[in-house]
Amino acid sequence: MRWDHVWIDINIATMDSEISSAYGAIHQGAIAVKDNKIVWLGAQNDLPQFDALSTPVYRGKGKWVTPGLIDAHTHLVFAGNRANEFEMRLQGASYEDIARAGGGIISTVNACREADEASLFDSARKRLNALAKEGVTTVEIKSGYGLETASELKLLRVARELGKHHHVDVQTTFLGAHAIPAQYQNQADAYIDHVINDMLPQVVAENLADAVDVFCEGIAFNLEQSERVLVAAKQAGLKIKLHSEQLSNIGGTVMAANLGAKSVDHIEYLDEAGVQAMSLNGTCAVLLPGAFYFLRETQLPPIALLRQYNVPMVVASDFNPGSSPICSTQLMLNMACTLFKLTPEEALQGVTVNAAKALGIEDSVGVLKVGMAADFCLWDINTPAELAYSYGVNPCQQVVKAGKLIQQ
Ligand code: NIG
Ligand code: FE
Repeated sequence: MRWDHVWIDINIATMDSEISSAYGAIHQGAIAVKDNKIVWLGAQNDLPQFDALSTPVYRGKGKWVTPGLIDAHTHLVFAGNRANEFEMRLQGASYEDIARAGGGIISTVNACREADEASLFDSARKRLNALAKEGVTTVEIKSGYGLETASELKLLRVARELGKHHHVDVQTTFLGAHAIPAQYQNQADAYIDHVINDMLPQVVAENLADAVDVFCEGIAFNLEQSERVLVAAKQAGLKIKLHSEQLSNIGGTVMAANLGAKSVDHIEYLDEAGVQAMSLNGTCAVLLPGAFYFLRETQLPPIALLRQYNVPMVVASDFNPGSSPICSTQLMLNMACTLFKLTPEEALQGVTVNAAKALGIEDSVGVLKVGMAADFCLWDINTPAELAYSYGVNPCQQVVKAGKLIQQ
């Protein structure tokens, strides 16, 4: 066998549902990598003969390997911050009050319109570095802080550039329908026309987005407006997803699931009909405990129903300056367990196998098995539950991305 490198003396949380043990675990395992992919994986005792003189062998000293983490919902390209709104909320204003008074998303939009690509890139790269140090190897980044063609394209270009200049893979999502910009006040329908007829074709022409998202909510776009954007996106050949049922239940989930959305995100106010629609259509539930925590929400997402209907649960940071300024995928594992009562195994599925499904990239990442990308992390832990249990002393010892050892 000629391999690029081999890992031995590791416990592997493959996250492969075809392996019946918890976490799809293989104890005392080994992984062989060639040409960016996993070419052999199994118990070390079964490792075939290979040329040990010419193949680098790494020893994990009995530590755990998991798939590289996937943060399937972020807004990490933005300018400025909203610490002032944080203070306002602590003096009694609500997130919705601030949004209706022209703050919230719109204040970040103003900062982003003014910022140039270089400064957006620099701040976003620092955030991406922070996620990468925690073992993230794939991230989704949304636009949505431009709300005019040139600025939306700018944010998406920055996100695409980040992916080109960083070992972390970036999946981009066009979220032009994130809020109603001041120029279109009381003309949400006209803004939606603009998103569909002017912005989307340019996004497609420049290949700037892998998916399209909409904020379907009382303070953003209604059901019909959201549906129009998703239908147009689907016709343009893009994957679709939706922010919905975050602050109220307006039926966005049923609509998006029936259109074949890869995911519906937030969903604190989701009911059984919505969960059923997700289950029927293979739509993932993206849980965002950082936003729940930071906005001090009390309505919990319907975890028991999601389990009952076998809807894949995803855990993501939603990193953004307004509702979740917490740039840590690892902390989300802990919050998903403490706030939403996921098990540590469900939480880890939420940033690996299920996160890949939410992005429609499950054929190449999210699970460790032969044929998948060699994206994995070595963790200084004795049980996989430790990843969700504790936070603050980063246990990520080594990241391998597309077969390469990453120095960071
Ligand atoms: O996912 N819900 C809509 N969008 C973001 C918040 C964006 C912001 O407040 O800047 C979210 O929570
Ligand atoms: Fe979000």
